[in-house]
Amino acid sequence: MDGSDARATNAYWGRDGLERRILDALAAAGTNVDTLTIDDLAPADQFHSGGKSATERLARLARLGDGMRVLDVGGGLGGPARTLATRFGCRVTVLDLTESYVRAGLTLTARLGLADRVTHRIGDALALDVGGETFDVVWTQNSGMNIPDKERLYAGFARVLRPGGLLALQEPMAGPVQPVLFPVMWARDAGASFLRAPDEMRKVIEAAGFQVRAWDDVTAEVIGPSTGAASPAHSIQRIVMGDAVDAIARSGQKNREEGRIVMIQAVLERREIPAWARAPRTSG
Ligand SMILES: C[S@@+](CC[C@H](N)C(=O)[O-])C[C@H]1O[C@@H](n2cnc3c(N)ncnc32)[C@H](O)[C@@H]1O
Repeated sequence: MDGSDARATNAYWGRDGLERRILDALAAAGTNVDTLTIDDLAPADQFHSGGKSATERLARLARLGDGMRVLDVGGGLGGPARTLATRFGCRVTVLDLTESYVRAGLTLTARLGLADRVTHRIGDALALDVGGETFDVVWTQNSGMNIPDKERLYAGFARVLRPGGLLALQEPMAGPVQPVLFPVMWARDAGASFLRAPDEMRKVIEAAGFQVRAWDDVTAEVIGPSTGAASPAHSIQRIVMGDAVDAIARSGQKNREEGRIVMIQAVLERREIPAWARAPRTSG
């Protein structure tokens, strides 16, 4: 297959009427959705371990700031993107393969008056069709787990970054104990889950043209010890996964405690590619 399987991705992650479901769930939890803020939305639009504080941690690690042009790959409903725009002054393009997320993301962004700073597009992380545009930062949070071809994924990130640009990532990776126990948030079984160990991931990303600036194991910090509390009805995890989220949380806790999955936040700089390395190869 050339790129990712869009139909399978949409079938797994996508849900109809997501904006309505999110607003109804927030209203039922006591939020006044007529005066919705980024913080009100956070439980329902930051679809990764650690929520909004993990997004802010990674943004601080990458030293994001005013006017930076960010491409958020697999950016989902745009919760992280709206945080980068409002808290860090970035201009963000969100790319995601799940159409219902892009639709809900667009309307949530407009509702918060951020359409001039955050845009949403349907697109495949393996194709990165951004019309030749380059970015200061490629941002990606909990989005590569379904993608086996990591070499191609990270080579694509290097291609759309300006030299010296940054890759900021948060990814679950394979821990020292295997196998992973299922279900996990991104897969019902091993057929759709493609995690590699941190050392291997680091090598793949470096080989794609990056130099590590920061590489933090944030498993304990971002996920923390499980409190055993169920995901609330207005969490994006329950809105999307329904009651399946309870089994996901149980195996998630074991995966963490037994060292089967670790969470990494990393910032890497795209190396300058010397002219000789860019020159087309001639044969003979
Ligand atoms: C757990 S959600 C994370 C969303 C977002 N990064 C966040 O943290 O809120 C995983 C996301 O990866 C997206 N995704 C999976 N495979 C993709 C691909 N090949 N190209 C683009 N997006 C993809 C899904 O559509 C989904 O939005």
